[in-house]
Amino acid sequence: MFKRTRRLRRNKIIRDMVSETEVDINSLVYPIFITEDYEENNSEKSLYKNSDKNSYMQYGIKEEITSMPGQYRYSIDRCHEVIDKYTAAGIKAFMIFGITDKKDDNGSGAYDENGIVQRAVRSIKQRYNDVYIITDVCMCEYTSHGHCGIIHDGEVDNDETIKLLAQTALSHVQAGADMVAPSDMMDKRVAAIRNTLDKNGYENIPIMSYSAKYASNFYGPFREAAKCSLKGDRKTYQMDFRNSKEALSEVLADIEEGADIVMVKPCMNYLDIINRVSNIVNVPVAAYSVSGEYAMVKAAALNGWIKEEETVYEMAVSAFRAGADIYITYYALELAEYIKNAILK
Ligand code: PBG
Repeated sequence: MFKRTRRLRRNKIIRDMVSETEVDINSLVYPIFITEDYEENNSEKSLYKNSDKNSYMQYGIKEEITSMPGQYRYSIDRCHEVIDKYTAAGIKAFMIFGITDKKDDNGSGAYDENGIVQRAVRSIKQRYNDVYIITDVCMCEYTSHGHCGIIHDGEVDNDETIKLLAQTALSHVQAGADMVAPSDMMDKRVAAIRNTLDKNGYENIPIMSYSAKYASNFYGPFREAAKCSLKGDRKTYQMDFRNSKEALSEVLADIEEGADIVMVKPCMNYLDIINRVSNIVNVPVAAYSVSGEYAMVKAAALNGWIKEEETVYEMAVSAFRAGADIYITYYALELAEYIKNAILK
């Protein structure tokens, strides 16, 4: 029999009644870039002397990321500005990325107890007791070559790197992080981090693993944001975007190693992966709408070619419809505001 599918689309009330997917503000995570800029032997007023290093550190920084208009790098003393604004809109979870111009071959800034993330987390946790802080655990912001691990004989050394990643995660948790999120794509890093956390009495700290993380062109703006010095690519450790079965073995391995949440990244072009993963796992699935996705929508919106909020909402709904439980997005504030306004209307 001919079916009139338009019957249930006749007005907003019936459309809302039969709609299947909601975007919950509680499931949004906002990434924050926290920066430190050192200057050797510079004693200008805007700098203060860093006690243990013979250098000066800038404060008062809020600098816009060129390829991500509307997104900024903040110095530690200013990151409360963004947290205040987002918590007022109902966002409670933040993912912290540390940016520094102090880089070396071993990425020692990653696991320095006075590194940028460690100091930022201590400072945020001192000021707020009702925000949830997730730290990105990786080495690429701290290595002079820009890779997510240390290099031996021309290759990223998996087993040496995971020891340093475990040390990094531990230092974040000691500083007060509520959750750690390894994004390096080394094998066995979840097990290494879980063991180290447990051995040190942090068995209650969850791990959100970037499990199915693809070697994507959509990370371009992030690399600018993170002042990453990478010359080549990450194809020897991040996944090949021609594959999807591999994503399943990645998530299953991570869950077995102790991951509490698995992530698929990027999001928009990887909804098939989110869907396949969410159909087979019994843990929450996070989707990361990455910097390139933000940049594309923002660029079109700034040109007046696309309705920004509606598009952003559609992207978020698509991620949840595909099976995501958590959505990490640079558009968290706009989404939260859009949802609230849409409910009030
Ligand atoms: C660090 C890391 C990256 C992103 C999150 N963590 C960059 C990369 O792997 O090159 C990308 C985030 C984004 O593009 O928004 N390894």
